[in-house]
Amino acid sequence: MPRGAVGSRSPRRDLLDKVLGRVRFAADLKVPGMLHLVVVRSTEAHARVTGIDVGEAAAVPGVVRVFTAADVPGENRYGIIRPTADQHLLAEGRVRMVGDPVALVAAETPEAAAEGARRVRVAYEPLPAVLDPAEALEAAAVRIHERGNLCFEQRVVRGDVDRALSEAAVVVEGTYETSRIEHAYIEPEAGVAYLEDGVLVVVCCTQNPHYDRRDLCRLLGLPEERVRVIQAPTGGGFGGKLDLSVQPFVALATWHTGRPCRLVYSREESFAASSKRHPFRMRYRTAADREGRLLAVEADLLADTGAYASYGLAVAIRAAVHAAGPYRVPNVRVRSRAVYTNHPFSGAMRGFGAPQVAFGYESQMDRVADALGLDPLEVRRRNALGPGEHTITGQRLGPSVGLRECLERVGRVRARWDGAPGLRGDGPVGVGVGAMYYGIGNTGMSNPSTAHVRFDEDGGFTLFTGAAEIGQGSDRVLTAVCADALGVDPDRVRLVRADTALTADAGATSASRQTYISGGAVLEAGQALGERILRRAEDLLEIPAEDLVIEGDRVRSRSLPSREVPLEEVASSFAKAGGMPREEGRFDPETTPLDRESGQGVPYATYAFAAQVARVRVDPVTGRVRVERIAAAHDVGRGVHPPGVRGQITGGVAMGVGMALMEAFDPGRDRNLDTYLIPTAADMPRVHPMIVEAPEPTGPFGAKGVGEPALIPTAPAVLNALARACGARIWRLPAGLEEVLEALGRGKE
Ligand code: MOS
Repeated sequence: MPRGAVGSRSPRRDLLDKVLGRVRFAADLKVPGMLHLVVVRSTEAHARVTGIDVGEAAAVPGVVRVFTAADVPGENRYGIIRPTADQHLLAEGRVRMVGDPVALVAAETPEAAAEGARRVRVAYEPLPAVLDPAEALEAAAVRIHERGNLCFEQRVVRGDVDRALSEAAVVVEGTYETSRIEHAYIEPEAGVAYLEDGVLVVVCCTQNPHYDRRDLCRLLGLPEERVRVIQAPTGGGFGGKLDLSVQPFVALATWHTGRPCRLVYSREESFAASSKRHPFRMRYRTAADREGRLLAVEADLLADTGAYASYGLAVAIRAAVHAAGPYRVPNVRVRSRAVYTNHPFSGAMRGFGAPQVAFGYESQMDRVADALGLDPLEVRRRNALGPGEHTITGQRLGPSVGLRECLERVGRVRARWDGAPGLRGDGPVGVGVGAMYYGIGNTGMSNPSTAHVRFDEDGGFTLFTGAAEIGQGSDRVLTAVCADALGVDPDRVRLVRADTALTADAGATSASRQTYISGGAVLEAGQALGERILRRAEDLLEIPAEDLVIEGDRVRSRSLPSREVPLEEVASSFAKAGGMPREEGRFDPETTPLDRESGQGVPYATYAFAAQVARVRVDPVTGRVRVERIAAAHDVGRGVHPPGVRGQITGGVAMGVGMALMEAFDPGRDRNLDTYLIPTAADMPRVHPMIVEAPEPTGPFGAKGVGEPALIPTAPAVLNALARACGARIWRLPAGLEEVLEALGRGKE
């Protein structure tokens, strides 16, 4: 047998083109005769729009047309989660945040479009703005949407929390806060649209071309066959490219003018128009017995979803489900609410609320350990979920639960670090642990992916998948799964990806789901095609298919290794007989919806597990924190592409360091990366990624996922390390210089 593609370290195909700058991103696309667009955006956080005067703008030389809500031919309402879809392509009588789109200018040149946009006169009648989620819930608060300011609420209730609290040896209580965070992908949003044989084609960066098409059809009142969305190479997403961005603007302008149109956001517009990570306020009570075994967790979670729901519903649900962490907790009372304010809208960002609650529950775990005089890692070990045990939603876990191994692996590293000399400078040192679990895929709902594999006339294969590659490596993963499902070299597998005209819906590149779910679909398609090839080879070799196997570039007999036929010959035989075979695979993991009242159910078919340990050093004079090292053990089921897994872990740690120490988006201040600080290479610790493989029986070759889990334990580990270094805990992210100096002061008291 040739060595399998799954588990191999061979590099991704896109690397060289990317590092050499040869990839053409959407902003590089130029269509002859195209118009340039500029969006006129609200300057008010909350206001009635009493008039839009486009006369002066339309008279600017080069301006072709100015659009307002009246020009939206379909339903002027969109949003990724249907029940809460509440965004308007262009404002209808009201704006709810600074940056809300009000009008759209199309012109022959970028300069004319910008001049036209400056001359659109919008009359606003300001309304009181609500900027605090707790105040938004008060009866007297101004309603941001007709249905009220509570966007969504999810509870998880189990056992008898009050009794457990009264009987516990220790109860720790704390309030934690996390910040609003900008995704800050390298590539700001960009796209072009044009008409081709009566079909409106949109080429854009996106995490989800099939969803884009659905909402574009609704906005434009067009049937699906009239709209084609092609994913351009996408320079990062992290959840921020799940929502529509430029797509409906270029589509609308092309639909009206018949001309190709292009829209490229500047970094400023990307900041102003894209979703943010939900800031959370979390009140926790955690009860444990004398041995540190958890008896109860109570959590009240309040998330600011800003002006629009976007993924707020998913964030509220996921935060609730993950609120107690990867532990056995018999008694649980969680309330999780996403609330509208007039802030920039919050949406999906790497982890959907799970990174926020991890800061809460992992801080609490350390405090339980401290209160009982126990080692924090040991307390986690005693409570760690294992195979066959139950989560707080009452789900019985399957065999793929690698948490204990993750804890052991980071424990061994921690033992080596304790007392090791510092890497940089002096100052107090702290070592801290963070752990997590994360459900793979969308929460408690059907979550299908469909893939196709075709045998080509030259003896190669083409994999058709709707899964968007956004830099995370799904092309490499799905190609490897396809190759091993067939038994061929991955070089024989071509890829057609993320084009609604050519590929079936694979669902979003989101929720760490493509390896597991689209991988499952690709596995099924590849296996089905392999069967067909063997049946054809059976005729050619006159050997029963059961004795045949595809190996590399041929089909051979298992019992008579000299009897074989090249794949090229099998392919010609198909071609002569009337056509190349193509097979479909589909995977939709089994889940059950959560009960509305109790939150009980099976939200995910499988979970990723992880533990990280961080070592930090604090400069006692400036409060500057150096994260020296992070060891990260992640149970991914199976590392389909181990260098990719390690890359995801390292990237997740970088984002986690930003969340822990630096990132807080201030809508009144942050227009660009000059004030909104994210980690650079100089801020990065030495990262030691460790791949743990507890195979998932329903996953392709045992694989689960790692994209979001990579980030989740980092901020908890860093903050727990900081608490040890400072001698006092920081309750609010990010832990900036002032917070650290203040904690050092408290620690000395
Ligand atoms: Mo992610 S928040 O699922 O793109």
